[in-house]
Amino acid sequence: MTTAKKNQAVDVRASLKDGLARLRAAGVPSSTLAAELLLMHVLGRDRAWMYAHSEAVLTPAEADRYAEFLQRRASGEPTQYLTGKQEFWGLEFEVTPAVLIPRPETEHLIEVVLERLGDERGIKINMRTGAPSQTLRIADVGTGSGCIAVALARELPHAQLFATDISSDALAVAQRNAIRHGTADRIQLVRTDLLGDFLKRKHASNDAAQLFDVIVSNPPYVARSEAKELPREVRDHEPAAALFGGPAGIEMYERLIEQAAELLAARGILVLELGYNCGEAVRTTLSRQGAWANVSVSGDLAGIPRVMAAERVREPALNCDRRARA
Ligand SMILES: C[S@@+](CC[C@H](N)C(=O)[O-])C[C@H]1O[C@@H](n2cnc3c(N)ncnc32)[C@H](O)[C@@H]1O
Repeated sequence: MTTAKKNQAVDVRASLKDGLARLRAAGVPSSTLAAELLLMHVLGRDRAWMYAHSEAVLTPAEADRYAEFLQRRASGEPTQYLTGKQEFWGLEFEVTPAVLIPRPETEHLIEVVLERLGDERGIKINMRTGAPSQTLRIADVGTGSGCIAVALARELPHAQLFATDISSDALAVAQRNAIRHGTADRIQLVRTDLLGDFLKRKHASNDAAQLFDVIVSNPPYVARSEAKELPREVRDHEPAAALFGGPAGIEMYERLIEQAAELLAARGILVLELGYNCGEAVRTTLSRQGAWANVSVSGDLAGIPRVMAAERVREPALNCDRRARA
């Protein structure tokens, strides 16, 4: 907003027009949506209200706040970090710069988990009686905002979720999102390197009850060398730990698949989001282990291979006989 305009009363219509022009001039993608979302956030109103009250005058504080947000968005800060929220799986999630902004394509991961679970829908069925027998144990590795764990907890009311992250700041955001969506009592948040703590627990207890039925992850998968090709919104503002998988980008998959083979129960499912060029490497890693069957790859709406799922062929070795699960 220019200095001349600054002291004038501005209404919703003029503010939107000005915001749109500024963001477009700065080359911001989806500039109309960004200008709208920022103004809605400043006014604490929804889109319907805004367009029904286009003559409403902004208070000076609102006008200043909107101008500040426009300036920050124009210089590359993602809209979601300014508004502090992003929708995922029909739910509103808090986001801060400590977490990756949940992407629409990650919803496909949830669909694949639900498809693979089929009719069980979170309840293990006792094969003899047909009655529900045991809660599903699901791990979400690299939970970030907690969007995957929370969405699965909402879909699978009988599942117990374990969500890990290396970042305690991210886990704090995930915790607030779990509370916000009424799932905190079923999501245990664990700060650890991938599934490292669970491997330790398994080795210590040697108990098959520690195994998971599903391990799901959207791991960091961008190669370090590709940093310069990322949009500035991503490269300069989203956490590096959420983006970069290592020099080649696939390093996290390799470690995670190895851990998953030790921690999934027989017929347990591994579901991974794929980076655009990671599919072959992930498939090769799975086949090298010989521990996996029913490998499937599904594309996202743009037809890009996006999710790989595989089934653990047999129960991993335990050191003694305490195999019976409660
Ligand atoms: C691509 S983000 C995914 C976040 C969220 N699950 C989503 O889909 O929006 C990857 C997450 O993995 C976490 N992470 C990175 N390295 C990790 C590691 N070695 N162990 C556990 N989590 C890690 C990052 O902090 C980040 O939150």
